[in-house]
Amino acid sequence: MAKAGTVFICSQCGHEESKWAGRCPECGEWNTFVESAGGSRARQAAGRDRPRGTDSIPLESLSADSGERSSSGIGEVDRVLGGGLVRGSSVLIGGEPGIGKSTLMLQVAAGAAGGDAPRGQTLAAAVEGATSRQRGAGRILYVTGEESAAQLKTRADRLGIGKNSVEVLCETDLESILRSLQNLKPVLVVVDSIQTLTSPELGNVPGTPNQIKYCCYEIISYCRERGCPVFLVAHVTKEGSIAGPKLIEHMVDTVLYFDQSESELRILRASKNRFGPVDEVGLFTMTARGLQEVKNPASLFIVQRENETPPGIVVAPVYEGSRVLMIEIQALVVPAKGAISRVFSDRIDSSRVSRVAAILEKHLSLRFSDQDIYVNVAGGLRIGEVGIELPLAFALYSARTSIPVSSKTAAAGELTLAGEVRSISHLSRRVRTAKEMGFDSFIGPASTDADQELVWTIVSDIAKAVKPVFA
Ligand code: TYD
Ligand code: MG
Repeated sequence: MAKAGTVFICSQCGHEESKWAGRCPECGEWNTFVESAGGSRARQAAGRDRPRGTDSIPLESLSADSGERSSSGIGEVDRVLGGGLVRGSSVLIGGEPGIGKSTLMLQVAAGAAGGDAPRGQTLAAAVEGATSRQRGAGRILYVTGEESAAQLKTRADRLGIGKNSVEVLCETDLESILRSLQNLKPVLVVVDSIQTLTSPELGNVPGTPNQIKYCCYEIISYCRERGCPVFLVAHVTKEGSIAGPKLIEHMVDTVLYFDQSESELRILRASKNRFGPVDEVGLFTMTARGLQEVKNPASLFIVQRENETPPGIVVAPVYEGSRVLMIEIQALVVPAKGAISRVFSDRIDSSRVSRVAAILEKHLSLRFSDQDIYVNVAGGLRIGEVGIELPLAFALYSARTSIPVSSKTAAAGELTLAGEVRSISHLSRRVRTAKEMGFDSFIGPASTDADQELVWTIVSDIAKAVKPVFA
C-alpha cells in the first residue's frame, strides 16, 4: 500500500500515477514507474516554470525582448540555435553517450570565452564591453559532474583550447552549484550532465525524475533571472528517447539533439526552439582535435563513382534549414518474397515511397504491387521534404526498368496523386546548387522564383517527366 503523499513517476515521460503500474498509460513503456515521496515537490518544481507574481501587466506596456544574441563561438551551433545564444535562454542538449556532447560543450565554452578563434562578437567580449570591465565579468562556467578536472584539462589540451579562460567546477550538489553561480556571476553556464546533479532536499540518488526536474528548474530559473544562457547536457537511452531529460523538455527554451549519421558525420538539430526555427542542422566531423564544423556540405552526401552510375540512383537537391544539400537516393526493386509486397525505407517515410510507387503504377503502368521496394539515402540523412518525390519516382522507375539515370542529372519536385508535378519552394536555389556541383541537367516543375540565367527542363506530370530522363 502506497504511503500518503507518495506518487509514482514514469522515468521516461514524467507521467504521474497514484498507484504503481507495469506499463505507463502515457508513453506505453514497461517498468518505468519509480516511487517518489517528494512528488508534490516535483510537481511544484515542474509547475513553477511559469512566470512568478500575481499582478497582470497590460501587453502593450511590456518591453519586448530585443532577442539580443551572442555568438556561441561555433558557427554551426549558432546556426542551429537560430543565429546565436539568446540572453537568459536554456538549451537542453541530448545525445547518446560518446556522441561528443562534452567535446562540443567544451568547444562552445572556449569559443564563447574567445579562447578558440573568436568568431563575431563573443559572449565574454559582449559582456565586458557592456559592463565597463567589471571584475569577473565575462566568465564562462563549465560545471562537470561526469568528469574530473584533470580529465577535462586533458581533453581541453587535446582540443588545443587548454589555455582559455573557462572556469571549471567539478560538483554535483545543486546548492553548491547555485552558490558558485552567485559568486561567479558567469555569462554562460554549461552543466554536464543534468542527470548527475542532486539536491539533498530530494535524497542523494542522482537521475531520479524528481531530482532532474528540481535541479533543472532551479538552474534555469536562476539563469533566466540573470540573463545568463545555460546549456544542460543530457544522455539519451538506447531506445532513442531521452530518459529523464524528456521530463524537462517543456521547461527549457531550446532542445537540441546530437546524433551520428551512417557516415562519420555528426548532426546537431533542434527539436524545439522558442527563439528560432527548428529545421536547421549543424554538421560536424569528429577529428583528433575535436569536432570540426563542416562548412560546405552541399556535395557531402553525393557518392563519387569511377564507373557508370548503376540503375536506381538519382541525385536531388533538398532543403535542410537554410541550406541546399545534394543527396543521393538509392532504390532497389525485387520480386516480393511473400504474398504481399513490402517497402523497406527508413530515411524517407515508407508511406511516401508506397504513394510514389502507386503513382508510377497507375500513370506509367509500371507494376510494383508484386515487388519488394528498398529505398535508402546515402550518408544517412532523413529526408522529410516533399521535393524528394519526383527524384524518388525516377529512382524507383530506374530500379524497376534497370535503365540508369545520368550521373549529371538532378531532379526535385512534388507529385500529386493524379501524377502532376507540383512546384516546390526555393527552386532557383536548388538548381543553382546543382549547377555549381557540376550537374548539367535539372528536371523539375515550373517555378515562380525562376532565375533568368538558370535553365531547366520543366515537366508538368510524371508521364512527361520520365521522357527526358529515360529517353
Ligand atoms: P564525449 O564528448 O565525451 O561524448 P559524450 O559527452 O557525448 O558522452 O566524447 C565523444 C567521443 O569522441 C569519445 O569516444 C572520444 C572521441 N574524441 C575524439 O575522437 N577526438 C577528440 O578530440 C575528443 C575530445 C574526443
Ligand atoms: Mg560527456
